[in-house]
Amino acid sequence: MASPMNGGSGTYSYARNSTWQRNVAAALENTLKEAVMENLDLQKLLCDSDTFVVADLGCSVGPNTFHAMEAIIDALQRKCDKTTLEFQVAFNDQTGNDFNTLLASLPVGRNYFAAAVAGSFYGRLFPSSSIHIAHSSATLNWLSRVPEGLANAAKIHYTGAPDAVARAYQDQFEEDMGIFFRCRAREIAAGGLILITMGAVLSRDAQHRVAAAFTFIESILIDMVKEGVLAQERVDSFNIPIIFPYIEEIRRLIEKNKCFEIVKMEKLESAGNSENAIMHIRAGFEGTLTTHFGSEIVEQVFVRAIQHQHKLHSTLTSTSSTGIFVVLRRN
Ligand SMILES: C[S@@+](CC[C@H](N)C(=O)[O-])C[C@H]1O[C@@H](n2cnc3c(N)ncnc32)[C@H](O)[C@@H]1O
Repeated sequence: MASPMNGGSGTYSYARNSTWQRNVAAALENTLKEAVMENLDLQKLLCDSDTFVVADLGCSVGPNTFHAMEAIIDALQRKCDKTTLEFQVAFNDQTGNDFNTLLASLPVGRNYFAAAVAGSFYGRLFPSSSIHIAHSSATLNWLSRVPEGLANAAKIHYTGAPDAVARAYQDQFEEDMGIFFRCRAREIAAGGLILITMGAVLSRDAQHRVAAAFTFIESILIDMVKEGVLAQERVDSFNIPIIFPYIEEIRRLIEKNKCFEIVKMEKLESAGNSENAIMHIRAGFEGTLTTHFGSEIVEQVFVRAIQHQHKLHSTLTSTSSTGIFVVLRRN
């Protein structure tokens, strides 16, 4: 299972080091609003109910989730002149997420009821047909687990690894997407939407250049093995369960489910830029690294990462992943 992002609001927290995701979300705000304005038949969707339910799947600790939820509700309010309409937002993440920070920082004066729902979105989270919009941003790249049978010595990801490793990641992604869409098909009311933002690649052959940041961390771990600080087998048995799928593969897996119509699938023009890549890597992956290597080693990894950051910045420009935005409507 994926480790949650760093909690709290300290130096290495996700709350303070998620500007990449925030920049993407800010660039997407109008697209998100348009998707809501153009693709919902509110009368049909709500029938006689006065409660509109939005779920943010993989919300982390904020504040990005709050901005996204506000954008969606703002669009709904503009679209619907019914003054009696009330909003409920279900903030979902894994059980290990820092829900205390999330709930303590809920916006004051918000115009929705908030609920926290802990659990993996690779499983059922809500009663049947109870959700009107599910939103999920920068989350579906996380696999439910490390793919089985990876014998990829000194490779912590499929970037630059043999094809069989990339295939194992793709197989796991196919299994996970199957579960994700089956569960959402039960939970989302007919006519409701799923709004997804995620990393992807635009060509199949881009997979070997996909994640320069992981290659950078890998090179630090290998140096530590060479210096005798870390045992080789600790690195050999470590794999980051993240995939940047080929965009057409995502389309195939959505269509395989047959319950959702693809209303929109577009490349994000502004992928956002990260002012401090190492802080972002730390906020997002420290938990995953610490579970495997322990906190002392991970501390050393990040000290070395700062010392060698010029190498990361030069490789980041050759990274081939991009972002996509997908709007799906439940049939
Ligand atoms: C990069 S963060 C994105 C957070 C937020 N959506 C944003 O845009 O800032 C990825 C989040 O997905 C969550 N996540 C990953 N796998 C998950 C799963 N199977 N179920 C629920 N949440 C998951 C992680 O815990 C993490 O909080």
